[in-house]
Amino acid sequence: MNRERHQESTEITELILNAAEKARAEIGIVTKQPTTGKSAKWPIDCNIGPGLEGAIACESKVGYVNGTDGLLSYRGYDIFELCAYSTYEEVSFLLLHGHLPNAAELQEFEQKLIKHRHMNKTLRLLMSFPVEEMNAMAALRMGTIFMRQEFTDVDRESAKPDLSHAISSDEDSIGMETKPSGERHAIYEFKRKKKRRKRKDSNLDDASGLEACYHLIAGVPTVTAAIARLRCGLMPYEPLNDLSHAANLYYMMNGRRPTPIEERVLDVALILHADHGMNASTFAAMVVASTMSDIYFSVGSGIAALNGPLHGGANERVLDTLRDVGSPDNVETWVKQSLAKKKKIPGFGHRVYKTYDPRARILGPLAKFRCLGCKPEIQNLISTAEHLEQQVVSSLDQEKKIFPNVDYYSGVVYTRLGIDPAMFTPLFAVSRVAGWTARVLEYMQNNRIFRPRALYTGEFNQVFKQVDER
Ligand code: ACO
Repeated sequence: MNRERHQESTEITELILNAAEKARAEIGIVTKQPTTGKSAKWPIDCNIGPGLEGAIACESKVGYVNGTDGLLSYRGYDIFELCAYSTYEEVSFLLLHGHLPNAAELQEFEQKLIKHRHMNKTLRLLMSFPVEEMNAMAALRMGTIFMRQEFTDVDRESAKPDLSHAISSDEDSIGMETKPSGERHAIYEFKRKKKRRKRKDSNLDDASGLEACYHLIAGVPTVTAAIARLRCGLMPYEPLNDLSHAANLYYMMNGRRPTPIEERVLDVALILHADHGMNASTFAAMVVASTMSDIYFSVGSGIAALNGPLHGGANERVLDTLRDVGSPDNVETWVKQSLAKKKKIPGFGHRVYKTYDPRARILGPLAKFRCLGCKPEIQNLISTAEHLEQQVVSSLDQEKKIFPNVDYYSGVVYTRLGIDPAMFTPLFAVSRVAGWTARVLEYMQNNRIFRPRALYTGEFNQVFKQVDER
């Protein structure tokens, strides 16, 4: 399947391998990575900055980010290799299950995705709202929560989480404002609930289980594409069962089957956004899951966190910026003025990467791929982006280690695929749902409710006065 899909886009494979080569040459011989990570001995000592910078909240085998050397891998597989040789279907299976699927597993997984892409109930609910007037991420969050209703018995008493699983997850197990001791046993015991009744006619009987993760990976693209259509006053398209994940997404958004190149470009973009450590949206999804809420609420929270301009919302703003700059000739003055005003330029900088983001190393060349025959507006956009990158990096690299991040070139790539800027951040969510679900599933194996502390800097011993005395 991959080989067939990739045959017609060998130039894209070459482009990715060249980007990998360039990364290796620039980074030099990278510090040798350990073959496996080591488990921590809890409680763990680490330096923590504001925004939980440096904090280690859990252990994970899902993915690895090394911000110093610019490395990213999913389950031990280098991101460049996955983009060059794999597909989003394989990568999402890998993230969830920890290994690349064999042919039978892949076929079974693809069949599940095909089944779950069809979501009449969710789309019917979605269409009863004025989606065309809504922010696309707000609509996506709503649509994701509607997907819960595909489970007919999700809110029944019998479907509520079994709290016997919550032993070791109660926040009162340690004094609220005391030094964490790493204590792992909760003080409450919960009565074991009666075994949940399984519905014979549906696999969707557990709103936090693996099937729900498949449902979200398959369904969030259907909702996203429906939103793209409804925003233009058009009816959603039904997914086509003979198309791949990326091709279906493209088809449901644009109403035509993509060319092999378009399909591959979108597939690579999906792979690149699938997971990225304990970023804000992943953490948000995990916090919600840790309260024993279900995975739909959890992914809904991930979508909400992703929306912000400091996170996934930056991709849409990059395009606004490029249009604001206007042309390569304006770049120098524009950057000087922005930096003088201490403005943060969308698409640059990262909490973790203090070098070139490996995802931007692929998205940059993808944005420029075969651009000679493009419309003048697109050529101008690409050229402005290149000049802006050079100017920002040369101004901020030495002092602040600011480089393009994943959001910098993704908007140009999506624009070339004919996608409306309002849909850029929802597309990020379409892909990241694999990482969110994989990390939530992993964390729930050994759940402990998230509950950091705040350093209290307020007043003590205030004297209460009645309202007429204040
Ligand atoms: N443009 C200009 N200067 C920047 C930028 C930027 N994009 N990013 C950081 N800096 C500067 C800051 O002004 C700060 O300078 P100072 O020390 O003189 O005050 C310094 O670099 C450190 O920046 P922080 O904001 O403290 O870094 P933090 O780790 O908190 O934030 C973040 C990282 C939010 C990504 C930041 O770089 C940013 O706002 N970038 C623009 C938005 C963006 O592209 N977000 C997408 C990130 S990728 C993702 O989430 C998928």
